[in-house]
Amino acid sequence: EKGGFEHFMLKEIYEQPKAIRDTLTGRISKDNKEVIYEELGWEPADVASIDRILITACGTAYHAGLVAKYYIEQLARIPVEVDIASEYRYRNPLTDKNTLAIVISQSGETSDTLAALKEAKRLGARSLAVTNVVGSSISREADQVIYTWAGPEIAVASTKAYTTQLVALLLLAVYLGQLNGKLDASLREQILTDLHELPNLCNEIFESVDDIKAFARNYGFREDAFFLGRSIDYAVAMEGSLKLKEISYIHAEAYAGGELKHGTLALIEEGVPVIALATQDDVREKMMSNVKEVKARDAVVIGLGLAGDTELEKYVDHTIFVPRADKYAAPILAVVPLQLLAYYAAITRGADVDKPRNLAKSVTVE
Ligand code: M6R
Repeated sequence: EKGGFEHFMLKEIYEQPKAIRDTLTGRISKDNKEVIYEELGWEPADVASIDRILITACGTAYHAGLVAKYYIEQLARIPVEVDIASEYRYRNPLTDKNTLAIVISQSGETSDTLAALKEAKRLGARSLAVTNVVGSSISREADQVIYTWAGPEIAVASTKAYTTQLVALLLLAVYLGQLNGKLDASLREQILTDLHELPNLCNEIFESVDDIKAFARNYGFREDAFFLGRSIDYAVAMEGSLKLKEISYIHAEAYAGGELKHGTLALIEEGVPVIALATQDDVREKMMSNVKEVKARDAVVIGLGLAGDTELEKYVDHTIFVPRADKYAAPILAVVPLQLLAYYAAITRGADVDKPRNLAKSVTVE
């Protein structure tokens, strides 16, 4: 049942090209000019009535929501707030009938996410679920549903659910921008054309798995690791950090590059691994100055960037490259080496990868 892989997690990491392809199927017009979300069937007026978007979820799904905020705000210019479901449900939130509430949940059964969905509906919001399980409680409770077609995810650590959530949410951002006229046709076409390529590009990442294994062996016994990023890379850094923590039990933290000086820099000392994400060109220079800051404290920096970035190599100790993609698709690729790094670090430490201590696949109690 593990299809020749040692663990479900590894199998599911390698299933991502197919999961992404399945999630894209039927949702992009043949000429790559439009998103077709038949299950939503919205008209421009449906989008015009949305004042703000609220995204709530837990864990990895919450991290997908953080990326979606960038996608939707950049491509459709609608304000988005993202909240952890267990916070949202108890904070007397400012949600009303002009809010589109999006909940994201692989299982569709997470109790806090379900409760947040009910709360948003009670306050009058329109609701939309992004979930992987047909007929799940959340899919039944929401007004509308977008399915990620990742297939069953067995390992506790979420991998293919996350990447397909990003794909579904990027499509949603383009769909919103296409309906409200905020996204110009040429950028739309470029994003959709690139999305088509994503499964193949994702496959290419697996060719550099030996390097990732070596990093895991070298740094897998350290007790701390830091992930740094800016903009979308920061959201992906948070997911990379969660992956490492949950299965390898290494203490990991994700930091927005600009926050280093406001605290974390105190923790950086000789030999501490810092994984610096650098897929976003518009914040690149700033990111490189953060890399210099941690290098000056003798951290070991692993730069995660786009293929051909010879400049990045000059700043860092080691590099991991993912194939070149546009700024929206690149983070979907960048998370894959981070999943593999977490996996091989856990293996190095002899941890139970598919069933980490104290955690359950589906959290159906508070
Ligand atoms: O099924 P859900 O997407 O609602 O689950 C949410 C979280 O419990 C889940 O993503 C959790 O954080 C994973 N173990 C992360 O790998």
